[in-house]
Amino acid sequence: MKSICADLVLQRLAPRADAAGAALNRQLYDCLREAILDGSLPPSSPLPASRDLARETAMSRNTVLHAYAQLQAEGYVHSRVGSGTFVAATTPESQLSAGRARAADADVPGTVRLARRAQALVADASAAPRQWGAFMPGVPDVTQFPHRGFGRIVSRLWRAPTPELLTYSHGGGHPALREAIAEHLRVARAVRCNADQVLVTEGVHQAIDLSLRMLADPRDTVWVEEPGYWGFHKVLQMDGTRVRALKVQTGSDSPDSPEAGWPRGGTPPRLIFVTPSHQYPLGSVMSLARRRALLDHARACGGWIFEDDYDSEFRFAGRPIPSMQGLEPDSPVIYVGTFSKTLFPGLRVGYMVLPRALAAPFRTAHADLYREGHAITQAALAELIGQGHYAAHIRRMRVLYARRRALLAGLIATHLGPAYLHPQASNAGLHLVLQLPAGCDDVAISRAAEAQGVLTRPLSRYYRRSGAQRGLLLGYACVQEADIEPAFRVLLECLRRARAT
Ligand SMILES: Cc1ncc(COP(=O)(O)O)c(C=O)c1O
Repeated sequence: MKSICADLVLQRLAPRADAAGAALNRQLYDCLREAILDGSLPPSSPLPASRDLARETAMSRNTVLHAYAQLQAEGYVHSRVGSGTFVAATTPESQLSAGRARAADADVPGTVRLARRAQALVADASAAPRQWGAFMPGVPDVTQFPHRGFGRIVSRLWRAPTPELLTYSHGGGHPALREAIAEHLRVARAVRCNADQVLVTEGVHQAIDLSLRMLADPRDTVWVEEPGYWGFHKVLQMDGTRVRALKVQTGSDSPDSPEAGWPRGGTPPRLIFVTPSHQYPLGSVMSLARRRALLDHARACGGWIFEDDYDSEFRFAGRPIPSMQGLEPDSPVIYVGTFSKTLFPGLRVGYMVLPRALAAPFRTAHADLYREGHAITQAALAELIGQGHYAAHIRRMRVLYARRRALLAGLIATHLGPAYLHPQASNAGLHLVLQLPAGCDDVAISRAAEAQGVLTRPLSRYYRRSGAQRGLLLGYACVQEADIEPAFRVLLECLRRARAT
């Protein structure tokens, strides 16, 4: 078998027109030196035995020995008797080039011209690099995932995988998983659906992307909740649609004004992005009157509602809030959910329940755009759900998260006062909103807390327009009970220093 080093030599030597006249050992030396300097051959990696490289590249052994000897004389490689030739841990250039490399890094933004939309996306990146620890919002306690049981199912499937599990999938997800999801949603979320309407995605972000590509042309209008989930805006930004703010109802809106805060005038929306059962990030529940008004409006203008039901399984008091999709038969609603909150985000499995008329075109486009796969994971997930472990896990997490939420809410009420708890929040989800006085710099407070090891997200970042409320999103689900109070005290100190208390 040919070595990777031989492949590298063969590829790099052939097109070097400038080196055509140079002796072959010099060409080989240049080629290996370059590969060492650009990191293709990393420090301490072994070079092939000279005899092997000579055979694989059809050079004479002497040519290879000459090149190796030159590299060794200059300190790029060293040889150990009996074990071979290795790239040196530090090259002669490495000291000199450290400064140069930094300068080159600094040049990168100037040398690459990104598309305008991409520039805006990168300049205002929202995904947090750290995803674990107090008080990272939206992250479940992944240490509780029943990984042994899941691992056993996965291992069994791997012992005799069928070709269907290993080739590109087609049809919107593993059939058993689509069945299991449909059954679960009919019971747990009052979703009206059968398995044919279910499309398995790589999470909510992919569902947003697919819906936009399928239903909105560039410059079409879409409505998005304000404040709203940053993920909506990120994908919308790349699709070039016109975004209008659908202001989230506040306690002061009169109950008979379900249209309060709707965009006025302009072209009707093709898509309306909402989180009706647990508004993200404020945590409120959309009134029935407003749900019905939005459904009527979508029907009247031929638009669609994108219902992001991302964490509704975790409601700790009162009756579950049924989905908006299930309110009416054949509603113009694309219902979207995810296993990111109920199981773990790294799984990257979510689902859409599509209105009947959309199911077939969406399945076709999904297969053509993204190419489906991960069939073994999907098959294992179907078994996890089918055997009742999924429902049991959710029940167990509900108890755990309710305790953690109560603990954190209690600390806020005791040390800051009940006014600091956001009044619209329902008793649900994986995070709560610590409300701060108007004028507080929640971004600066969040940064200061992060510097002390406590993660939060500033509420003002979820608004696109002026008039942002100030606050901090605090995730409690991923924090062990014993760690909640110590982390809260660190945060309290940051708030005091910022005079936010
Ligand atoms: C409102 C909302 N929707 C969707 C998601 C992401 O879902 P997924 O991981 O399935 O892309 C999140 C993640 O935090 C969220 O907060």
